[in-house]
Amino acid sequence: MPNPGRFVSVLLVFAMLIFPAARVFAQRPAIEAPHGMVVSAHHLASAAGVEILQKGGNAVDAAIATGLALSVVYPWAGPLGGGGFMLVHLADGRQIAIDYRESAPAAATRDMYLAPDGSLIKGAGSSTTGWRASGVPGNVAGFAYALENYGSGKITWAELCEPARRLAREGHRMSQTTALALRNAEPLLGLFDESRSVFLKGGAFYSAGDLWVQSDLGETLARLQRHGPREFYEGETAQFIAAAMQKNGGTITLADLKAYRPVERAPLRGNYRGHEIVTMPPPSSGGIALLQMLGMLEWHDVGSLGHSSAAKYHLFAEVMKRAFRDRAEYIGDPAFVHVPVAQLLAPAYVQNRMADFSPDRATPAAAVQPGLGKYVAAARTESPETTHYSVVDSAGNAVANTYTLNGGFGSGVTIPGTGILMNNEMDDFTSKPGAPNMFGLIQGEANAIAPSKRPLSSMTPTFVFKDGKLLLVTGSPGGPTIINTVLQVVTNVIDFNMPVQRAVEAPRIHHQWLPDVLTFEAYGISADTEAALQARGHLIKERTSYEGATQGDAESIAIDPKTGLRQGAADPRKGDSAAVGF
Ligand code: DON
Repeated sequence: MPNPGRFVSVLLVFAMLIFPAARVFAQRPAIEAPHGMVVSAHHLASAAGVEILQKGGNAVDAAIATGLALSVVYPWAGPLGGGGFMLVHLADGRQIAIDYRESAPAAATRDMYLAPDGSLIKGAGSSTTGWRASGVPGNVAGFAYALENYGSGKITWAELCEPARRLAREGHRMSQTTALALRNAEPLLGLFDESRSVFLKGGAFYSAGDLWVQSDLGETLARLQRHGPREFYEGETAQFIAAAMQKNGGTITLADLKAYRPVERAPLRGNYRGHEIVTMPPPSSGGIALLQMLGMLEWHDVGSLGHSSAAKYHLFAEVMKRAFRDRAEYIGDPAFVHVPVAQLLAPAYVQNRMADFSPDRATPAAAVQPGLGKYVAAARTESPETTHYSVVDSAGNAVANTYTLNGGFGSGVTIPGTGILMNNEMDDFTSKPGAPNMFGLIQGEANAIAPSKRPLSSMTPTFVFKDGKLLLVTGSPGGPTIINTVLQVVTNVIDFNMPVQRAVEAPRIHHQWLPDVLTFEAYGISADTEAALQARGHLIKERTSYEGATQGDAESIAIDPKTGLRQGAADPRKGDSAAVGF
């Protein structure tokens, strides 16, 4: 009687003999599906996207439904009151970047966050907290633009609002992750009556498993469903927002809302070891920095260094410092400042950035100069919370979408009667030139506040192509760490041949030029690797951020070039994340 178990083992040993280079490691597999896939930070939002794909919608339709659903089930990152960037790949070969970043209200001024003595205003009235912290939200306008121009034409706006409306009206069981996030946000949300009543049960805390109904948000979604997306900017919802702003000393007016428009942009393109990288242009700094870092790495045999070696981490930290130095100097909203994109991405320039690289010594941050000479410094503040999701449909269209309120639960303000939580994206501007922000980044002129200007971002939704075929859809939250998270996911796939799930799960490091510190995730590097990095002169610290001790949340999809299977890799760093496919 043949023993099937033995047969399989023999086959395995045989396979290992034939393919001696193959590395075998235990790992959670990606979720595979032949038709469509949505990977987001919440399983109910991923399911909302798949519901639309199964109705015949394309990746853009599904991305909108997922984004709207996240506004209900993942309220601290993606609600209607925020903004972001959507990168679209169409099966016919085109790629489009939709910039629906918030813009500064008309009443915004360069010094609006400075007290009379020139110090930064703290607490209420600051760039981070309360009614003056919000830019004009872009989410609804961005989704509407994407639907009108790149949707399948088979699914209506009203249908896309439906899963979100249902989740808000009928409620959903609160997850442990959400309950904990709400509890942790009490110091912020507790400052505002409406937020206290919507998110804190009026004072008590929600527990995991509670049925969470959001009636006002459900009503807002129903209004958007009935009257269309302009309702947010010109209808009753707009009036709710403008009236509350006026009553509480906020800056956004009805005219600001009415004037808001998303901007379609040409994505940035670059190459890395025979792959094409398509990513986000300014006002995100992410694409430029990612392409610069890949350009610097191309000259090194990254794969042979070993994934978690001190030599690799040293090289990556050096590359990160140089890209972040340029980011701080040159990048802002291209409608307001000249960003020298072509010069920053010229291959000779990028290669030359590493002319002083030593494999044995860390370059001190103070010695890292901007590569194109002095410009006007342009770094900015960032803080949590953002979210990224990826979608691929059966025709091969794809969406990489990163959007945000900036801080976790944004400004803390919920517009009374609407359930809409507002962003604090104004904090991504330079509140005070030259002043280090909460992350130690330097504030610069190119990112100074001006009416209608968009604050500089790090969000980096990205596609990787091989031989003209889409291979990877990725992106992440995490403020300045976003760019480095995307860099590491991309190099894990290209240099280390990792399956996508492994590429997403692998530990990450971060360096942002200033502060001159290399951070790693808890359990992320070994003590002897740490010692080897210290010996090269790096100051090393374990991350201790709002995200716990982790970095980013790269909800990604790979497409198997041989089978075409969509491989959804949910990032385990966020408790509710899920890949859902069919
Ligand atoms: O646009 C940016 O770069 C920031 N507002 C993103 C903030 C963020 O990712 C926080 N996330 N965890």
